[in-house]
Amino acid sequence: MWYQVKSYLLFLWRSKNKHSVHSPFIFDLLTKCIRHKSNGDITATEAKFDALASKDNRSIQVTDLGAGSGYMGDNRTLSAIFKIAGIKKKQRTLLRKLIPYLEIRQILELGTSVGKATVTMANVSKTSVVTVEGCTNTAHIAQEYFDQLELKNIEVYNKPFNQFLSSNTQSFDLVYLDGGHNKEQTLANFEGLLPLIHNNSLILLDDIYWSPQMTEVWQLLCQHPRVTVSIDSYNWGWLFFRKEQPKQHFVLRL
Ligand SMILES: C[S@@+](CC[C@H](N)C(=O)[O-])C[C@H]1O[C@@H](n2cnc3c(N)ncnc32)[C@H](O)[C@@H]1O
Repeated sequence: MWYQVKSYLLFLWRSKNKHSVHSPFIFDLLTKCIRHKSNGDITATEAKFDALASKDNRSIQVTDLGAGSGYMGDNRTLSAIFKIAGIKKKQRTLLRKLIPYLEIRQILELGTSVGKATVTMANVSKTSVVTVEGCTNTAHIAQEYFDQLELKNIEVYNKPFNQFLSSNTQSFDLVYLDGGHNKEQTLANFEGLLPLIHNNSLILLDDIYWSPQMTEVWQLLCQHPRVTVSIDSYNWGWLFFRKEQPKQHFVLRL
């Protein structure tokens, strides 16, 4: 907790406003998408999902493949998973704006949980979402919610990220990497993702200040030769691969 507070204060100090952003690509992203007033409202499908999941008092046994110490079992209510593990309001709004602006169609989410971010991404027109969840009980619940909402453009894979990445050949426009919050897994996931992304893909890495390890891995990824533009927006690390961009790093308050 103290690490996150200290990191946030440092982030505030380092972050710049749009007037000091000289890259046209990032300037447009900020002014025409992120800070643009339209497209940010919660949809009826998301509201229905929230009503279902936030009041679901069933409990499940959770197997978390992302814990640093290995496999971790726990009994949790679905409403608690929805509230604690699910994407935050601000990030959800950003997804609703980003996906149409960047003309994203094919999306990969690593870390479904009960499907809060999945529903947001699948509910933007013309998207198709592949989502991977290692915990069988959690994956079943997510599938149950998607069926209830009649969201047919979501494919759930119940397997560890590394198994999915080593057997998949489809490429993705957006990857939302939201699980396995430790250095080894995140580096391995990133390497596994490289064959699946193209020049205009975006990888969003969640929780880059969750721990010193996550910040370390984030800084390593920014230096990676395939990464051109990187943005630190505190909750997310953004990685772009556009060859036409000079290598640049931004720290932005969104
Ligand atoms: C923070 S939650 C995802 C939250 C979700 N994206 C949302 O916004 O609602 C992370 C999920 O990733 C799963 N996970 C972590 N490491 C994994 C791995 N190596 N393979 C498969 N699933 C994993 C966990 O079981 C957990 O449900």
